[in-house]
Amino acid sequence: MATNMRSIIAATGSYLPEKILTNKDLEAKVDTTDEWIFQRSGIKERRIAAEDETTGDMAIAAAKRALAAAGLTGSDIDGIIVATTTPDRTFPAVAVKVQAALDIPVGLAFDIQAVCTGFVYAMSVANNFIALGQAKRILVIGAEKMSSILNWEDRTTCVLFGDGAGAVILEAEEGGAGDITDRGIHSTHLYANGKLRDLLYTDGGTAMTGTSGQIVMEGREVFKYAVKYMADVVEEALAENNITADDVDWLVPHQANIRIIEATAKKLGLSMDKVIVTVEKHGNTSAASIPLALDDAVQSGKIKRGDLLLIEGMGGGLTWGSALVRF
Ligand code: UT7
Repeated sequence: MATNMRSIIAATGSYLPEKILTNKDLEAKVDTTDEWIFQRSGIKERRIAAEDETTGDMAIAAAKRALAAAGLTGSDIDGIIVATTTPDRTFPAVAVKVQAALDIPVGLAFDIQAVCTGFVYAMSVANNFIALGQAKRILVIGAEKMSSILNWEDRTTCVLFGDGAGAVILEAEEGGAGDITDRGIHSTHLYANGKLRDLLYTDGGTAMTGTSGQIVMEGREVFKYAVKYMADVVEEALAENNITADDVDWLVPHQANIRIIEATAKKLGLSMDKVIVTVEKHGNTSAASIPLALDDAVQSGKIKRGDLLLIEGMGGGLTWGSALVRF
């Protein structure tokens, strides 16, 4: 079994649905204000998928763009991992729909459910397959139609979430773990604390109600844990790689709340101009938020080849995790 491999990010891609829902639009739906939403969360608008547009459709669109950016086709891919909380169907996985749509050959394809941390989990799992020599190029996708599990009468949750998809292609590179100056994933850390699962959940599910249910959240409590867990997990990533925050070019955080992002940056002593922020225009897109933010920053020219990225996420479960990657 080959063990001399690490994964590099060959390319990124993303997709956002056309429809923009602004805070002003929400004022007409629930008892809220643009000011409240922006001050408490940093969100101004979010995208909402068309009624007949599914998570799978968005995942396929994002994956196509990542393949185009890499100059690859489906036949070059040998694995697909989709992080999602809002799959098209209970089964089969969204990943197999992506596989068929992009003519990706027979290989591994499955979904991961770790809510907003899903993309970090998926990257970590894909990285392990590559490090073990079990795959050469894996499409790692975060895709969500959060609008489909929102209670549009609950102002404490429906103003926070949005839809979209992001993808990266992880590719095997010879040279083992490599030096921190080398491109590729240098560490991943994944966590969950199931005792906190009642802080953020859906009030239904296939085996319980036969429906997907809708999001329920104890926002203030989740906020408290988010700040603590994010700070812990990014500091662990720095320590494991023997680097300091000064070595990090970009913090690429899960986009749930600007105040959580600012608290993590402050704890690290990182100025906000080294932090990728898209929460204002995307809202919280759960597993899609990190790859959407990553691709947005690559497209705009902020993130360049060779930059050191500290990726971190946190969500229902509670789950949280980080990845340190030289792009
Ligand atoms: O991605 C997964 C992880 N999720 C998160 O990281 C979310 C973490 N939590 C948060 O981001 C924040 O807690 C929220 C943005 C959800 C809420 O901000 P907050 O500063 O924690 O507000 P709060 O929940 O303490 O609510 C303050 C007040 C309440 O009124 P009272 O009880 O003080 O009278 C709420 O009823 O704001 C009220 N409120 C609203 N007012 C206007 C709650 N939602 C709204 C709303 N518009 N949409």
